Amino acid sequence: MRIVVASDHAGVDLRLAMAEEAAELGHEVVDLGPAPGEPIDYPINGAKVGRLVASGDFDRGLLVCGTGVGISIAANKIAGVRAVVCSEPYSAIMSRAHNDANVLALGARVVGDGLARQIVREWLATDFEGGRHARRVELISELDHS
Ligand code: RB5
Repeated sequence: MRIVVASDHAGVDLRLAMAEEAAELGHEVVDLGPAPGEPIDYPINGAKVGRLVASGDFDRGLLVCGTGVGISIAANKIAGVRAVVCSEPYSAIMSRAHNDANVLALGARVVGDGLARQIVREWLATDFEGGRHARRVELISELDHS
């Protein structure tokens, strides 16, 4: 898959690890930064990644900020984005299987490197189940226009 990755200044180290993990799994990864030491407010990169995923330029997005919360809220403002913040693998798996989540946000101050890599691996490997869940995701998509 084509995966776009970004963070704010609080998420740089974990973002680099997430980009590395996704690349090692064979995905094509584009990293929007920021560079270490470069301050950037999380809504800027949350929206950037959201737009690139919603437009279809990328299949999935990975975001990191201090908690994963602010950057996921920003991404979810873009129509077509279903961003989730996860700090354990079960929710990450279910967010793909039931919610067809297309952006995963992680909190650099919440999860360690090993757990974050596991969450990313499971999230990238899990397919949307469709079926009854497709109707529910469609109902979410309708909210983009409300
Ligand atoms: C930055 O200090 C912090 O507020 C940000 O990384 C994030 O946690 C916001 O949700």
